[in-house]
Amino acid sequence: MNDSPEEEALPKASWTSGFAAYYEALTGDFRGDVPMYLEMAKRHEGPILELACGTGRVAIPLAEAGSTIVGLDSDPEMLALAESKARVLELGRRISFVEADMVSFKMKQKFPLIIAGANSLIHLLDSASLRKCLERCRTQLASGGALYIAFEPSPYIAAAGKYRVERERPRQVFNRETGETLLYRGTTTVDPNFQLIVRHHEYANPRAPHDATKTATFNYVTRPIYPGELEVLMERVGLEIIETYGDYDLRPLTRQSEKIVYHTQRA
Ligand SMILES: C[S@@+](CC[C@H](N)C(=O)[O-])C[C@H]1O[C@@H](n2cnc3c(N)ncnc32)[C@H](O)[C@@H]1O
Repeated sequence: MNDSPEEEALPKASWTSGFAAYYEALTGDFRGDVPMYLEMAKRHEGPILELACGTGRVAIPLAEAGSTIVGLDSDPEMLALAESKARVLELGRRISFVEADMVSFKMKQKFPLIIAGANSLIHLLDSASLRKCLERCRTQLASGGALYIAFEPSPYIAAAGKYRVERERPRQVFNRETGETLLYRGTTTVDPNFQLIVRHHEYANPRAPHDATKTATFNYVTRPIYPGELEVLMERVGLEIIETYGDYDLRPLTRQSEKIVYHTQRA
């Protein structure tokens, strides 16, 4: 028996509503992978489908560069933020958004390019959901179309050995929605048995860091992807790996690589 509070059952939902503006404050300015998607858009003529597009961090620069793109996400608040950003930039019909689950979505349109970037697939919390999502992507690919999947192999699960909790140092982030500067603290809980990582986010008012009434908290649950698992599932659903890259600049995968990018197509 183990009665440590840290060993209570983990939350099973990947994403919490109300998190959109905070997530945008934390990650909205990240551009590291955008040039890679611009390059893919050049190689495979659109329209593009982006899974779990969030606040349009990737979809918007692609539309700005002239691609036609559909961003799919299950969180209406993330999509509302993405839509308002696209409206300000007057991107018109080049960009549209669909509220749907990436495990079960169905669309009439087929796509020459589908991207599941920036760790999007780690939001699928079991192997069956990952497989269903890959099946959906295969069906939505146009003939000769490409599906790119990018993620960071997680060192956490393998290194954890056992249930582990890590607390990060607080840092400031700016919430553009409200104009507030917030104090962000992250805590990561690793559950190797269920292959889950729970990131607990806390956004406090820096002038009242200990006032719980001025603090917003969210759990952000992910399931790291193992390349072997993904490759087996891809083969099962009829996706063939064309190339495997080791970074967002599309250099070859090596032992030192910190990212993995699969270029796949229908087998
Ligand atoms: C970490 S954010 C990534 C957003 C975006 N891809 C980026 O790189 O900025 C993860 C997104 O996945 C979405 N998401 C989680 N589970 C989903 C699902 N089953 N179907 C569609 N979207 C999902 C969340 O709503 C959230 O917007």
